[in-house]
Amino acid sequence: MGYADLFRLDGRRVAVVGGASGIGRESVRALAAHGAEVLIADKDVPGAEETARLAAAERPAPGAGPGPGPVSVHRLDVLDDVAVREAAAQWGAVDGLVVTVGANVRKRIADYTPHDFERVMALNLRAYLTLVQSMAPGMAARGRGSVVGLASMRAFQVEAGQSVYAASKAGLVQFLRTAAEEWGPSGVRFNAVAPGVVRTPLTDQIAADPQWYEAYAQASALRRWAGAEEIAGAVTYLVSDASTYVTGSVLTVDGGWTAVDGRYEPSL
Ligand SMILES: NC(=O)c1ccc[n+]([C@@H]2O[C@H](COP(=O)([O-])OP(=O)(O)OC[C@H]3O[C@@H](n4cnc5c(N)ncnc54)[C@H](O)[C@@H]3O)[C@@H](O)[C@H]2O)c1
Repeated sequence: MGYADLFRLDGRRVAVVGGASGIGRESVRALAAHGAEVLIADKDVPGAEETARLAAAERPAPGAGPGPGPVSVHRLDVLDDVAVREAAAQWGAVDGLVVTVGANVRKRIADYTPHDFERVMALNLRAYLTLVQSMAPGMAARGRGSVVGLASMRAFQVEAGQSVYAASKAGLVQFLRTAAEEWGPSGVRFNAVAPGVVRTPLTDQIAADPQWYEAYAQASALRRWAGAEEIAGAVTYLVSDASTYVTGSVLTVDGGWTAVDGRYEPSL
């Protein structure tokens, strides 16, 4: 393979779980544009169908290679373990698994309910157990595969109201690192992407409050929010052969948020 094809995914099958919206949707579009066959799994079927439509409409620049890979839509609730196992069996061999489901309940610890706790943990962390159990062995049997999970800068830096979300994302990082060790000898890679603040439905609550929105924009080195399409490159990289020696890692895509302290700008 020449370097010009380093990120190409022709002939690869990639499942994107959570592909009906936000980062998942843009990841589907990017993966398909690089030639992958993409299976979109989501509980939101109309959203997944819209993603499939957008992916199919992706057209390469004249002379820049083939059009997008085929995209299919699969209804799936990741909290239904039986359905996840059945879906994985039905899909058969996949080369990549990208998981972008996630939820946040922003409340102080004093106000958190057990139900809130379980909801966030179930989607952000426990769902990975059955997904990985169902799909990693098949990848291991073929000696190759890449699993990409969506963590967050909240795995490392917190603020009031982020307790359970931050714990779930820190837990996810350690879960994926352990998976990297357990399946590494079989050639299966596991990595996390840790975005900063990205304008998707998940952040509607923040965008509705101009002060909160602007404070978050100013917290990163780039002084702005990300678009979901700015996360898709990291996902594509980690699925592709450009990252064959990358496993157990966390790729921050946060506009520099976790690099800077942000409390004070000296007048130098
Ligand atoms: N948006 C951000 O600022 C941001 C920042 C850091 C990390 N993240 C993480 O990135 C991931 C994607 O976030 P997003 O902003 O694109 O979210 P989003 O809400 O736009 O998309 C989440 C998708 O998951 C699907 N989903 C939810 N529950 C499901 C279930 N039970 N079964 C199947 N599908 C289900 C939804 O239908 C939706 O399509 C999440 O894990 C999130 O925590 C997001």
